[in-house]
Formats: sequence, structure tokens, C-alpha cells
Amino acid sequence: MKGIGRDFMQKTQYDYLEPSDQTMGLPQPPLFDEPDPDREQFDLPDPSGLHLPPVDLVQLITDRRTLRRYADDPISPAELSTLLWCTQGVKRVTGRPSTQRTVPSAGARHAFETYLLFNRVEGFDPGLYHYLSGEHRLEAVDLESTIADRITESALSQKQVQASAVTFLWVADVYRMAWRYGERGYRYLHLDAGHVCQNLYLIAEALGCGVCAIAAYDDEGINTLLGLDGETRFVIYVATVGKK
Ligand SMILES: Cc1cc2nc3c(=O)[nH]c(=O)nc-3n(C[C@H](O)[C@H](O)[C@H](O)COP(=O)(O)O)c2cc1C
Repeated sequence: MKGIGRDFMQKTQYDYLEPSDQTMGLPQPPLFDEPDPDREQFDLPDPSGLHLPPVDLVQLITDRRTLRRYADDPISPAELSTLLWCTQGVKRVTGRPSTQRTVPSAGARHAFETYLLFNRVEGFDPGLYHYLSGEHRLEAVDLESTIADRITESALSQKQVQASAVTFLWVADVYRMAWRYGERGYRYLHLDAGHVCQNLYLIAEALGCGVCAIAAYDDEGINTLLGLDGETRFVIYVATVGKK
């Protein structure tokens, strides 16, 4: 619909904003999803256990580029743990309560859940997993053998999804952000997602991996695959990762 983007930017200006649920005294939603008792859980190695060689940050930023083709090598659990830690790791739960994480977030709302398509992660069956950020653990969501094909198709058949060792799918939980910021919170969700993906690009570079950010996907298709209604929760950003 022509003009909808401009309307969105206008109507989310401060002049239009109504009091948020927080200012109305409604309770804060949970800081992160709890494990689903019906899903199998998996430990992740402590991210501090991976001793990376010292890196020159400016060189890393200069060298970073999008990579869509990968080597066949798998990613190790220690590398995966580091990628997750650097993108959504919870450093501390404060008394407010809120989470302090390895990425910035508007009002420390941290309104994302991370889903992961594993194609080649050592010690894990291929399939769809969910990162339990509060515990730095994983749970299996869908280990059906066609899941990679289905997610690739929903990403408009972009081959790097199928070729990746792991594909990150960040899901926005709208109310975690809107509780404080109302409709303006939608802006912040998209800004926050950029920080997360940039951290993935940089830590992946340090680990000898390449990344391709993906925003071209069939919203309804990808949300349905992840069991999301597309309104209260939706896939906001996707990124493939694989060894160079
Ligand atoms: C928001 C965003 C969405 C993107 N979506 C896609 C995508 O759907 N498919 C793709 O192949 N690359 C995608 N890219 C990668 C860009 O094409 C890439 O970053 C750009 O060409 C600049 O190249 P560089 O990252 O190597 O500097 C996306 C990048 C961003 C930041």
C-alpha cells in the first residue's frame, strides 16, 4: 500500500503516542521465554571457554563482508555458544527487573527470541532449535528432516539458508517492547535487530565464518513454520552463518 511506510513514521511520532501500558501500571511481561517442558534440552559450553586469538577490531570491521557460500565444515558447539552469547547473551538480570545483554536495546527491553536452523553443528541433529537465553541452553523445536527445505523456501529460496552451517532467525515479541513504548516500539524492534546482526557479523568474522543478513522472506510462511501468529510475534530478521 503506497504511503504506508511514511504513515508509519508519522503516526509513531511522539505527538501521536498514547500512554503505554507501563505508564498505566500494567505488569511487565516476562524477560525471556521459559523452556517448554515437552522439548528436549541441550547444554551449551561456557562461552568464556573459547580462547580466540587477539583480534584487531578495526581490521575485523574492515574485513567484514557478506558471505553467501560456505565451506562444508561444521560449526563446533563452542563456536555456536560464542555466536549466541555475543548476539543475545544475558550478562545479568537486574532488580528492575530487566536483562543486561551483550547487545544494546531500547529501554533494555530485549524483545527477541533466537531460533536456529542447524544444518551442520557438531553433536546436534539437524533441525530447528530455540535458544534459552536465560539459561544459555538450547531446546529442540522441530527435527523433522524437511525443516531446512521449508525454511529455505520461506526465505524466497535463497540458497545460503540451505548451504549454511546454522541460520539465525530472530523473533520479535512485540509486547515486551510495546509495554513501555506503545506503537513507537515497532521502530525500536527494528533498530535493536540491527545491533544483534552486526554483532553476529563481527564475532563470526573473528571465528573464520561468514554471514549473510536476510530480510527478504515470506513473512506469513516463515512465521507459520515457527508457530508464530505474525502479530504478537514475528520473524524480524534472519542471518546465515558458515565457515569460510
Ligand atoms: C537489512 C538487510 C537485509 C538484507 N537482506 C538480504 C537478503 O535478503 N539476501 C541477501 O542475499 N543479502 C541481504 N543483505 C545483505 C546485503 O546485500 C549486503 O549487506 C550488502 O550488499 C552490502 O555488502 P556487504 O555486507 O558485503 O558489505 C541484507 C543486508 C541488510 C543489512
